Amino acid sequence: MRRKLIVGNWKMNGGLEANASLLHAVCEGVRSQLPACDIGVAVPALYLAQVQQLLADSVVALGAQDVSAHISGAFTGEISAGMLREFAVRYVLVGHSERRQYHGESDAAVAAKACAALNAGLTPIVCVGETLQEREAGRTVDVVGRQLAAVLDAVAENAEKLVVAYEPVWAIGTGKTAMPEQAQEVHYRLRQQLCDVSAPNVPLLYGGSMNAANARQLLAQPDVDGGLIGGASLKAEDFLRIIAAAG
Ligand code: PGA
Repeated sequence: MRRKLIVGNWKMNGGLEANASLLHAVCEGVRSQLPACDIGVAVPALYLAQVQQLLADSVVALGAQDVSAHISGAFTGEISAGMLREFAVRYVLVGHSERRQYHGESDAAVAAKACAALNAGLTPIVCVGETLQEREAGRTVDVVGRQLAAVLDAVAENAEKLVVAYEPVWAIGTGKTAMPEQAQEVHYRLRQQLCDVSAPNVPLLYGGSMNAANARQLLAQPDVDGGLIGGASLKAEDFLRIIAAAG
């Protein structure tokens, strides 16, 4: 069985004080809970140094929310994978739907970011997901398949180093979670696509309004290997309950 992975995506939330109290509570809970899953938190870039310190003695891994496709140079405002590495970052989200939607990131741009992350030794968490309109038009499998294919083509034989997160856009931050069977159906298709490139064990996370109440059922699906948690990762108690649900 694949080990489960629970990653918090703080998005543009937090502050020096709030980060410290949230992570004290999370680390404390994780220490007493001794979870059998892997855990990470993807924090705003400005707090990486602070959170690196806060997580120094913890099994909770550090994550970033975005990375440049470039190694260095005249790219104002961007942060390279090498820079993230210097702060002991392990995971980096690429292609989150909020980046695709608000920053116009194309499949090709997402693929280039995944390659840059891998080249620096980071684990990209590649996010894919359909909009409500696409789902209603019966295009879910086409859309997520296309998004994943762009990355798989680019990373070639490194596919097994990826993490993939299925995040239906209509479920993100809306309180509307995919039914466990809906998630499983898409995860199964993504798994087949990964098997086709000899990467059957890539962890497939579900994201989109996962919370303490629905996590157990979602995580019980055979092809759901973990969760990418937005809102519920900002409350220690909720995040810890999701971690507990992951085993
Ligand atoms: P949510 O966000 O859990 O708040 O829906 C998930 C995500 O966007 O990663």
